[in-house]
Amino acid sequence: MKYRDTLKINEQGHLAIGGADCVALAEKYGTPLYVMDEEHIRTVCRGYKKLLDTRYANSRILYASKAFAALAVYGIVHSEGLGADVVSGGELYTALKGGMPAEEIYFHGNNKSRDELEFAVKENVHAVVVDSYYEIETLSEIASKLGKTQKALVRVNPGIDAHTHRFIQTTRTDSKFGFSIADGSALATIKKVCATKNLRFIGLHCHIGSQIFEQKPFELAVEKMTDFISALNKENISVEELDLGGGYGVTYTDDDKPLEPHQYVSIIIDKLDECLKHKKIAPPKLILEPGRSIVGEAGITLYTVGAIKEIKDMKKYIAVDGGMFENPRFALYQSKYAAVLANRAAEKATEKVTVAGKCCESGDILIEDIMLPKAKSGDLLAVFTTGAYNYSMASNYNRNPVPPVVLVNNGESDYIVKPQSYEDIISRDAIPPRLGANK
Ligand code: LLP
Repeated sequence: MKYRDTLKINEQGHLAIGGADCVALAEKYGTPLYVMDEEHIRTVCRGYKKLLDTRYANSRILYASKAFAALAVYGIVHSEGLGADVVSGGELYTALKGGMPAEEIYFHGNNKSRDELEFAVKENVHAVVVDSYYEIETLSEIASKLGKTQKALVRVNPGIDAHTHRFIQTTRTDSKFGFSIADGSALATIKKVCATKNLRFIGLHCHIGSQIFEQKPFELAVEKMTDFISALNKENISVEELDLGGGYGVTYTDDDKPLEPHQYVSIIIDKLDECLKHKKIAPPKLILEPGRSIVGEAGITLYTVGAIKEIKDMKKYIAVDGGMFENPRFALYQSKYAAVLANRAAEKATEKVTVAGKCCESGDILIEDIMLPKAKSGDLLAVFTTGAYNYSMASNYNRNPVPPVVLVNNGESDYIVKPQSYEDIISRDAIPPRLGANK
């Protein structure tokens, strides 16, 4: 695993994150527990900022909220100079309440509701990223009703097939996202936005996929998007902002060899500089939207090992107190994870096991075939790189409470998401009077 200053094995042989001993964290907060390393989040943000400040100052990094949205996160990323992208009314609400200024928020989504759009326009978000004709009409109606002009980007599909799991790809030609450049619908949509009252077209957006390691797809995206800017300029349409989305890969297991997060940005800027010069395009404001690379490796999840079951000559399961309700990524994408026994982190891994969750479903696996020291019930398992798309995709499946999230820094730890009780779980249930009172 990729250890770092804030994620290491301490003198007791325990895993420590953000200066906090994981055994002590588990004792204090219980398990399952999401733990987020504040310093790591800040370090990644600073890496992005520093590179952009020196190489392409007319730019903005937006934190992709969908990776992990909770009030405290917005405060952290905003204090590091980032804005945010949101994809729902709920994310927008959380971002605003978390202190992200509306003018630094971009609103995405392929099917935003009228209420969501109205909320965004009323709050004065910087831009709405338009992704359907239906939305253009609704947004224009809302903006005129409120006497405003709403800035809009148009999401386009440059048709790039990034090598990643099919469900995480977003710009294959048959994607539900964006208007195709190739078939002319992107141009037609932009002309429509330009001609629609109370909307102001300011730029283009694309996002080519997630957990991408190669540099080529990003370079291709820059090529295609700048070609398209040239085509728009010929139609007398100027592009003030170019938003290239996120997607930079992170390390889940030793097989993953991503570049450092800011190196992806460097590659994009190299290509962009070259294309802008070559195609004689006025440099647009560059927007990037990383999510996973900011919070992914910052997070670990702690579990207590419970039942251990050996199927002779076949498989050994160790079951933990979490599962697909707090990390559905194996069930959804067969995602791979690395893990250690946090209370015996320095011990050699000697046996191959499968880590199962506690949900009533055979597919409820967290890690298939991982080498660990011989685990006993009561051991503490730490799974790495759970900061992105774990808490944000958690559910109450089987009525399991969503685990709390603790933020660690310099040995201090605090809740940023409090524990959910059984009472919380039933708090929105309602029994119609005609069913009578439950005994
Ligand atoms: N911008 C847009 C428009 C996006 O759709 C996404 C991710 C991002 C930015 C951030 O991408 P990132 O830097 O995090 O790769 N649930 C999946 C990931 C879905 C990502 C969807 N869009 C997973 O667990 O892997």
